[in-house]
Amino acid sequence: MELFEAIKTRRSIGKVKEDPVPKELLLQILEAGTWAPCHHRTEPWRFTVLEGDGRDKLRDALVASLKSSMDDPETEENKLRLEKISKQPYRAPVIIVTSVEPVENDKVILDEEFAAGHAAVQNMLLAAHALGLGAVWRTGKPLYTRTMCEAFGLSEKGAVTGFIYIGYPDMTPAPAKRKSVDEVTEWYS
Ligand SMILES: Cc1cc2nc3c(=O)[nH]c(=O)nc-3n(C[C@H](O)[C@H](O)[C@H](O)COP(=O)(O)O)c2cc1C
Repeated sequence: MELFEAIKTRRSIGKVKEDPVPKELLLQILEAGTWAPCHHRTEPWRFTVLEGDGRDKLRDALVASLKSSMDDPETEENKLRLEKISKQPYRAPVIIVTSVEPVENDKVILDEEFAAGHAAVQNMLLAAHALGLGAVWRTGKPLYTRTMCEAFGLSEKGAVTGFIYIGYPDMTPAPAKRKSVDEVTEWYS
């Protein structure tokens, strides 16, 4: 697929089939992530691939993370929220959990480590699309907790940046729109 076509036709695909995704394709997606730009060549991205029962790892992390934000996990309302979140990882046959582990170095600016990590996610979304797969970058509040970082073995400065749900598309996305370039650009010539 031509680059501009891939950039413009990539859409978040929230509904995918159960069919497994071949490892060769996942390796291509992961490699695309590793070709993102990064200042000082820190390559701060980390990936965790969850398939089959491996998705239980994300289920447990989501439940633990949500629980950590609750005063009382035993209320009926909270039990329902925990039940709901525990089902989320099974919406796709593969989830790549993306993280950033910043390099400790005086020259390195923490925000830039995360910028590189986010660029890696976009490369992976584009690669998935170019390979005929559907993907969506999911986050949500339980991603942003220490409990989540610990579940994925990250340091104090590290953080999870996304859950990329991947599978063969089982939906046709609605036509997308973006603001025109004119609306978001100032030119000084
Ligand atoms: C940082 C980030 C977090 C996102 N988190 C979610 C999410 O939790 N759930 C979801 O359905 N989509 C999520 N998305 C996808 C956006 O909703 C989606 O990109 C947006 O609606 C534009 O649609 P498109 O990707 O099809 O162009 C996220 C996107 C980004 C960049």
